[in-house]
Amino acid sequence: MRVLVTGGAGFIGSHLTDALLARGDDVVVVDDLSSGREARLDPQAVLHKLSVTEAGSLTEVVESERPEIICHLAAQINVRASVDAPEHDAEVNVVGTVNVLEAARTAGARVVFASSGGALYGRDAPIPSREDVLALPESPYGIAKYCAEQYVGLYNRLHGTQHCVLRMANVYGPRQDPAGEAGVTTIFCANVLAGQDPVIYGDGNQTRDFVYVGDTVRAFLAAADSRRPGTWNVGGGDEITVLDLVAIIGEVAGHVVTPRFDPPKPGELLRSAVAIDRATSELGWRPLTPLAEGIAAVCEWIESGAPERGWC
Ligand SMILES: NC(=O)c1ccc[n+]([C@@H]2O[C@H](COP(=O)([O-])OP(=O)(O)OC[C@H]3O[C@@H](n4cnc5c(N)ncnc54)[C@H](O)[C@@H]3O)[C@@H](O)[C@H]2O)c1
Repeated sequence: MRVLVTGGAGFIGSHLTDALLARGDDVVVVDDLSSGREARLDPQAVLHKLSVTEAGSLTEVVESERPEIICHLAAQINVRASVDAPEHDAEVNVVGTVNVLEAARTAGARVVFASSGGALYGRDAPIPSREDVLALPESPYGIAKYCAEQYVGLYNRLHGTQHCVLRMANVYGPRQDPAGEAGVTTIFCANVLAGQDPVIYGDGNQTRDFVYVGDTVRAFLAAADSRRPGTWNVGGGDEITVLDLVAIIGEVAGHVVTPRFDPPKPGELLRSAVAIDRATSELGWRPLTPLAEGIAAVCEWIESGAPERGWC
């Protein structure tokens, strides 16, 4: 297949690009390199340094490259930045997605949209949260992802397309910058390996759903190959407390870890975990990487100097 990956120089996008190339697909990347890095890209991938907010240039690229699939991962991913500058977040995450959908129309390409399970379901959502729970996002980032999802669904109804949505939980793995949505795993691993005590905000009993980047990439491949519309949660299958996460990192690293505790961050969800049975039954996808195994990969990657390439 010929696949265009927006955000392909980012954490998840660069792993996805590697996996697509490894199975013989042609890959074109659109990335403005605002947080992504060219060094993460396999030289076989063609990079267009471009923002998805530039509708005209984006359409030109899509018209000339003629992808069959567009995996749309380019995004402003920092939740706190979305609170400080919601207009910029909406410009990239909402308008950027509309631009991708419009560009896809010119080439008849199918869009696989990277949404967020962690930011969409509100604080009262039943755990694990299913796809049909009413989304009540708690941040401009979550609202923008939800709004973009609505456009994806609207395009399917309006234009008869087969676009689809993956709602990812907290993705973690090698190449992840500490600042991202799930950067906590990288930060804690780096702390523990350096002999520092990780800082937990709150009492550590808040829960999250961690899914390994390699498993996430397989969900993209399954969604791309399915050729059907849909919205699927992508999670690790377990609800994990932050205290448990720190304990697992300590065990993997072979260090005794004594976390320090700071006051909870305002607005932080107490519980978050997604139900994944829809992706399992409809896409044949399930996570395969136990948390300790994924954490071991992150620790090895950090101990190797956190290289831009390799490690999945
Ligand atoms: N990491 C997670 O836990 C997680 C969870 C749920 C959803 N997501 C979604 O997955 C996608 C990838 O996330 P990631 O963790 O790899 O983040 P990332 O920041 O590593 O990757 C995002 C990429 O998009 C690029 N980008 C940003 N703005 C752009 C723009 N205007 N035009 C073109 N490129 C632009 C960045 O340079 C970067 O390479 C995002 O859409 C994010 O919202 C991530």
